[in-house]
Amino acid sequence: MDRQALTYFLETFGCQMNVLDSQLVEGQLQAHGLRRVSSTRDADLIMFNTCSVRQHAEDKVLSRLGELKRVKLHRPDTIIGVLGCMAERMKNELFEQAPHLDLICGPGELFRLPELLADVAESRTPVAALTDSLSRRTSKVNRGHEVDPLEVLDQSRTTDVSANVLQAYVRVQRGCDKFCTYCVVPFTRGPERSRPPAQIVDEARRLVDAGCREITLLGQTVNSYVHPEDGRAVRFAELLERVNDIDGLDRLRFVTSFPADWDEDIFRVMRDYPRVCPYLHIPAQSGSDRILKAMKRTYTVAEYLRLMDTAREYVPDIALAGDFIVGFSGETADNFQSTVDLVRRVEYKSLFVFKYSVRPGTAADRSQLDDVPAEIKAQRNNELLAVQSEISLRQKQALVGQTVEVLVEGYSKAARKARSANNGELVQLTVQSEQDRGSEATREPLSNQLVGRTPHDLITVFNGTADHIGRLVHVRVDSASPLTLFGQIAD
Ligand code: SAH
Ligand code: SF4
Ligand code: F3S
Repeated sequence: MDRQALTYFLETFGCQMNVLDSQLVEGQLQAHGLRRVSSTRDADLIMFNTCSVRQHAEDKVLSRLGELKRVKLHRPDTIIGVLGCMAERMKNELFEQAPHLDLICGPGELFRLPELLADVAESRTPVAALTDSLSRRTSKVNRGHEVDPLEVLDQSRTTDVSANVLQAYVRVQRGCDKFCTYCVVPFTRGPERSRPPAQIVDEARRLVDAGCREITLLGQTVNSYVHPEDGRAVRFAELLERVNDIDGLDRLRFVTSFPADWDEDIFRVMRDYPRVCPYLHIPAQSGSDRILKAMKRTYTVAEYLRLMDTAREYVPDIALAGDFIVGFSGETADNFQSTVDLVRRVEYKSLFVFKYSVRPGTAADRSQLDDVPAEIKAQRNNELLAVQSEISLRQKQALVGQTVEVLVEGYSKAARKARSANNGELVQLTVQSEQDRGSEATREPLSNQLVGRTPHDLITVFNGTADHIGRLVHVRVDSASPLTLFGQIAD
């Protein structure tokens, strides 16, 4: 038993930003000699990278923290930390709710984590690392020069065995300036700051050199990216072109787009550069102008629809994904019907639907009532998902008989289950699992089931071998469900 190396357990909640932050944090911890374990039972450090976007997300973490009281009683040396948005939002209140907590660290301070952990281990007193200047607001361009300590520190992400090398996230901006009235993100992640384009391209190139085939650029409002360079402004369309030009990259995606202040050049790049996937995640949030105004989304339904039409003029087969909040303050049955109408009209590829959750400190919390009953929220949530499910199924059935290009991510969930039942081993989902290539696949079809995505982000399941993992293959579609295409390898 090796008691030399400290072990850590890290569980991630929330959006892609948090997934990326966790990868970067893990790279740093491993560079400091820490070893990851998959159970809190075996961990010297237990950390949660948290999300505050809805109360439900916070409740999950609070309940996990509650369970750890026992651990702390039995093993008082264990260090327990809350990282990310909940730390920044709740600040010292977290210590009040969970007195056995040792560390809180906001998203802007994660680059200091190894030092903070050492501090806690030595002093045995709780430590809080928060960014108190988060509400500071200066002009966009002035902020552009800020460095990104977490990414600059990161040297290990590309060699870290736990990272998924086939597909990677690259941050292009931090924070958000939109202050939608319901949303906590500007308070937890601070003002919008774009990274220098050269830094982004370098990081992407490093990932591609290490075997990455698909890059997703991340920002809360990714299309508002702007950074000064040689006396002019580099905007998002130009950044896309520059990342697109990296040799060896197969696919380029970006999330999330904000419908206002759209720059048509982005559609032009999507049309003209085949590596840029025909996929756009562009939340509308509501189909009612009155609600959009109360949310401070700064566009109307007609403007949003016009933008979707323009998207389809440039990229006729574009796959659109949307977010909607149901049961926002004052949402009437008619307002909700307008949302249903919008969803039917746009014909999204997929939808994320959320029940409105009041966030303390937001404008909606201060000035609007949470007046839609929980049952009505749940009902609207289900209704909207049912409407989308019909649309999704119809779209996918139209692909039956056609051939789609799939980037193979690994074995499907069912295959991994079958395989772990067969030989007690979990097959890794990454291209790095070289050892899988040699292993004999069993004859059971389920255990040969692979999964990947098309450029339109359609999940596709088919039979193949470990050799296919990490490659682009063509799959002939022979059936479809609302969420998945099923088929056979065609080449
Ligand atoms: N920056 C992205 C989304 C960030 S949060 C954007 O603006 O599109 C992800 C989604 O969570 C949002 O699109 C919204 O639909 C939902 N969301 C945010 N705050 C919420 C709240 N208070 N209650 C319910 N859903 C919320
Ligand atoms: Fe939140 Fe609005 Fe910013 Fe998205 S754009 S992160 S919903 S404030
Ligand atoms: Fe959640 Fe923070 Fe992302 S609040 S959605 S983890 S930016």
